[in-house]
Amino acid sequence: MEIVEADVAIVGAGGAGLRAAIALAQTDPTLKIALISKVYPMRSHTCAAEGGAAGVIKKDDSLALHFDDTVGGGDWLSDQDCVEYFVNEAPKELLQLEHWGCPWNREEDGSVAVRPFGGMKKQRTWFAADKSGFHILHTLFQTTLQFPTITRYDEYFALDLLVDEGRCQGLTAMEMKSGMIKQFNAKSVIICGGGAGRMFPFTTNGAIKTGDGMALAYRAGVPLKDMEFVQYHPTGLPNTGSLLTEACRGEGGVMLNKNGRRYLQDYGMGPETPLGKPQLKTMELGPRDRVSQAYWHEVQKGNTVTTPWGECVLLDMRHLGEKYIDERLPLVRELAIAYLGVDIVKDPVPIRPVVHYMMGGISTNTKAATELPGLFAAGECACVSLNGANRLGSNSLTELLVFGKAAALSAIAHAKSVGPANKAALKAQADASQARIRELFLRTDGKESMSGLRKEMMDTMEKNCGLYRTEAGLQEAVNKIVELRQRYNKVVLHDKSNVFNTDLFQVLELGSMLDCASALTVGALARKESRGAHQRLDYVERDDKNYLRHSMAYYQGQDTARIEYLDVVITKSPPGVRDYSGDHK
Ligand code: FUM
Repeated sequence: MEIVEADVAIVGAGGAGLRAAIALAQTDPTLKIALISKVYPMRSHTCAAEGGAAGVIKKDDSLALHFDDTVGGGDWLSDQDCVEYFVNEAPKELLQLEHWGCPWNREEDGSVAVRPFGGMKKQRTWFAADKSGFHILHTLFQTTLQFPTITRYDEYFALDLLVDEGRCQGLTAMEMKSGMIKQFNAKSVIICGGGAGRMFPFTTNGAIKTGDGMALAYRAGVPLKDMEFVQYHPTGLPNTGSLLTEACRGEGGVMLNKNGRRYLQDYGMGPETPLGKPQLKTMELGPRDRVSQAYWHEVQKGNTVTTPWGECVLLDMRHLGEKYIDERLPLVRELAIAYLGVDIVKDPVPIRPVVHYMMGGISTNTKAATELPGLFAAGECACVSLNGANRLGSNSLTELLVFGKAAALSAIAHAKSVGPANKAALKAQADASQARIRELFLRTDGKESMSGLRKEMMDTMEKNCGLYRTEAGLQEAVNKIVELRQRYNKVVLHDKSNVFNTDLFQVLELGSMLDCASALTVGALARKESRGAHQRLDYVERDDKNYLRHSMAYYQGQDTARIEYLDVVITKSPPGVRDYSGDHK
């Protein structure tokens, strides 16, 4: 097996991975950096982010207000030391992107333009029309090209971490075009592998978001934190699940039920406000958990519009006018026409909530370090405890910048502190990793199909782990995932070739998703309260006495995850009431 020697290996080349790579290369030009990704960087899911990135820039705003919005939006499950670090670093990172060439939209006077976003009581979302992620990813990618010390391994599938002497020292990864497995020895490893929304059938997430990075760390003994918190974005196209950005509402779009009523005023997000741009009151700019949950109640009341793709509400942007829509929301117009045949200039578009983001992930501290020395994580795959129980829209693009950089700095410090590796021990682990894959190829006695198990997993998650949950439903989900993880051991490969064996990669991805689903379902069953995105019909109140704590799911092989709890860090904002009835000034 070929061995690659690196100082730092990064798994994932989306926004967080690229930001980490740049920080590594800039900080220490002598470092050898291996950037490993299962897709070309520009196909990473960061590219799909639309609405923008949050960071205080305007005079009427402050770091304290960004802190308050984030902590309240997260229903007080965010670690406040983390939030404080984040809001402080956010504007610096967005300005840095500006200097690297990110084409942020401008005000008339040439200053950076911002737009309102949900749950943010000030306008602080920097944007590039409705293709912000696309432009951020391009900016980062082109910046990495300056650094010869970054070696890219595009289309490599990460298999297993190498852990020796109690610290992470590298990983194995398969080159997808040849099936060859390589051993990457690295003093530090940073996982930036993205989320796991593909556990669910209806999601904004691209097909690549299968929780592989989370599962890598989890199987190596690192806990997954707060996995039960799954964000539904309120405005997805009902057939494809494509995202219609929150910027639709930030720019003044309104949500209507079948009676033409702006129903959010009935769910603590009123009073009704005049149509205008941008929206200056809460209403449609409520936080995502509340806006999505309001949809569920409208369905119960029979106030929704029936479509071939299920019950919908309407997103109306006609009053914004064609010129403004084409300037600010061109992609939204294109998506609605392409996939639904609706021109938002002329008609309201039917939408419904869609799985969008995992608040939970690999447990890290504010320096992006995990419990396993030498292993760091950033971006959606990580849970640094910024987002708590409900992330505010546009905090995540900034998060991957802030903590991608933090992970790099921590990884350098660690790499400089460690002694030489026991190469024989690492080689033995790499061989075991290869043997695991070989066993899959040799398996002939299995009866299970990857697609069959995947469908059962998705159906279970959709039915039992959605916007509102119950004890019985969650127990059913836990049992089903246990069963599916056992049956997974009997999956057979139909394609035994080495060249771009997508059958193999989908089997591996299913394994990652099942592990993530195990942590999610067990954590959700154990959390007997309603907080943020985790709403229980049988425990309707937030319970700070018992659950102002992070859930920490530990891998137990074939057994269900073991859940422990960790106190939330509260520094200056004691748990309070979330009030979205007032102004977005
Ligand atoms: O609606 C959006 O543009 C999504 C943004 C986000 O998830 O932060």
